[in-house]
Amino acid sequence: MAGNENVVAGQNETAFLELLGGGEPVGSGKRWGGMVVAGITGGAALALSVICLPFVSPALRRVCLPYVPATTSQVNNVLRALRGRSGRMVDLGSGDGRIVLSAAQAGFSPAEGVELNLWLVLYSKFQAFKRGLSSKTDFHRKDLWKFSLKPYPNIVIFGVEEMMTELELKLQKEVEDGTHIVACRFPLPTLKPAATIGSGLDTVWLYKHKSN
Ligand SMILES: C[S@@+](CC[C@H](N)C(=O)[O-])C[C@H]1O[C@@H](n2cnc3c(N)ncnc32)[C@H](O)[C@@H]1O
Repeated sequence: MAGNENVVAGQNETAFLELLGGGEPVGSGKRWGGMVVAGITGGAALALSVICLPFVSPALRRVCLPYVPATTSQVNNVLRALRGRSGRMVDLGSGDGRIVLSAAQAGFSPAEGVELNLWLVLYSKFQAFKRGLSSKTDFHRKDLWKFSLKPYPNIVIFGVEEMMTELELKLQKEVEDGTHIVACRFPLPTLKPAATIGSGLDTVWLYKHKSN
């Protein structure tokens, strides 16, 4: 009986070794090949997770604000809403930087973005460099809820409906009189817009802040 058990144990061991590296002795080519393949696969999976995490993590936050880039017509509506304005502007949750870069091209300086996703911040900076707009733009890797809005006379937000009440409170607390606020796709819940531009999903609302 004991002899049989030893034979079965020996067979299991051989099968396990075959799984690891074809049962070849330590240091043999096959075994190293297996380890290299496992290392590359594991490394690639880790790299993919690191890249994807910033895109998935908004879903884990209190307010889920996912990356949805503005359409060309939405960007044009934002610029129409800010026509005649100049100076400093900020896009809250600036994504790939398309609104900030268009605003810089339209003469806003500095045009700034606040964005949590590191890859999108790096991409925005690269785009600014490529278009020769680095000196007119700035991208902050920060949480918009912890970012002071006080210094900005022009503010853009493409948010989600669930955040607009809290954002309106933050704006009312922090911004100066005369600040122009442009909300894309979802209006601020209680403020009365000075203008509504565009239609459907690309609608933007312009608010001219005046404290009570
Ligand atoms: C709807 S997208 C708008 C992107 C850009 N403004 C545009 O119009 O193309 C919202 C962006 O906000 C970013 N975001 C989400 N939560 C944030 C937070 N707490 N602080 C800063 N950015 C945030 C997301 O990563 C995403 O890029």
